[in-house]
Amino acid sequence: MRLEPDFLLFETPVFMGSLRQTLPHWLEKKHYTQVIVLTDDNTQTHCWPQIQNLLPHSVKTITIPAGEQHKNLKTCEWIWNQMLLQQCDRKSLLINLGGGVIGDMGGFCAATWKRGIDFIQIPTTLLSMTDAAIGGKTGIDFQGIKNIIGVFQNPAAIFIDPTFLNTLAERELRSGFAEVIKHALIGSPVLLHKIHQSGNTPLPHLDWSELLRESIAVKIHVVAQDPTEQNLRMLLNFGHTIGHALESYFLDTDTPLTHGEAIAIGMICEIPKDKRAEVAKTLLRYFPVVPIPETAYPELWNMMLQDKKNSSGTVRMAVPDELPFTLNVLELSEMQLPDLLSEYQNFSPA
Ligand SMILES: NC(=O)c1ccc[n+]([C@@H]2O[C@H](COP(=O)([O-])OP(=O)(O)OC[C@H]3O[C@@H](n4cnc5c(N)ncnc54)[C@H](O)[C@@H]3O)[C@@H](O)[C@H]2O)c1
Repeated sequence: MRLEPDFLLFETPVFMGSLRQTLPHWLEKKHYTQVIVLTDDNTQTHCWPQIQNLLPHSVKTITIPAGEQHKNLKTCEWIWNQMLLQQCDRKSLLINLGGGVIGDMGGFCAATWKRGIDFIQIPTTLLSMTDAAIGGKTGIDFQGIKNIIGVFQNPAAIFIDPTFLNTLAERELRSGFAEVIKHALIGSPVLLHKIHQSGNTPLPHLDWSELLRESIAVKIHVVAQDPTEQNLRMLLNFGHTIGHALESYFLDTDTPLTHGEAIAIGMICEIPKDKRAEVAKTLLRYFPVVPIPETAYPELWNMMLQDKKNSSGTVRMAVPDELPFTLNVLELSEMQLPDLLSEYQNFSPA
């Protein structure tokens, strides 16, 4: 049993490693009246059996269908209804056992239930372990717009156990790896070195606890400096201006991209030219070049204009500067976009 967290983000302890060593002990000290676990179909099958015997016998589960398309108000209503049926009072705890969809939506449902009950994050995808579960952003999509309804609310604790990654599809693992590489590029030369050192080791065989520790340290450092994204936290959006537009564009095609695949392209395009070849070399090892039809360029530009960081016809991109944890905001014009996208497509495979 272990009580000391690996990190502390404001009041929130972050525990890494086997849940058996940390979760029961942490729970014992809390005296919640009720514990409810939120899962999706997949985490119900693959992850719930791993934690069931660490929780009180009276624990109840709420299971929703997997996928981003369910991260909406309708599913929240269904979750709140279940909480009502289970007489979830103000001293109840909601455990979010899943990827970013479960963490974001469960966090939002808990933060608004009776003006806020405790919730904990037990992320089960690489993306949620390194990114989504940390930083207090909760929310849902509305009218097709991602994360437009939500609140900042920190969980009561975060438990990161990389053994959940054993059942994750390799493409999902790769998607999360793009965010790990992003953290390396914005704040951790040590992590970047470790990624380079990993050579051609297939992702499922990497030592995730070591890489996650470095990656999470970057996210925590940034969020601690700027919890509500007034300045430095924008750095976490590196690759996301062009990346989000690509993700949305490809969503309507026969070959949708994962979030990480889109962000990887975004990072190659957004990084200043003098560093582009080097960054591309790192990313292309995991993310082969994706053909982007020229006919898509105007649509991509329009999507980028809608980004909340932009004003009057220009697009602003948050990119890392020379030193770790330094933010540089670059402006992009419509004329520059085709050059960036074609330069990306002309990179040869790593
Ligand atoms: N709050 C934040 O700061 C933040 C940051 C980044 C992303 N996000 C959000 O995170 C979401 C994406 O997260 P995600 O990539 O984890 O998606 P996800 O939650 O949809 O999970 C991806 C898939 O993996 C399955 N899965 C999860 N864990 C598994 C396991 N251990 N074994 C087998 N299958 C498993 C899920 O059921 C799902 O089908 C988006 O909604 C995004 O907006 C939030």
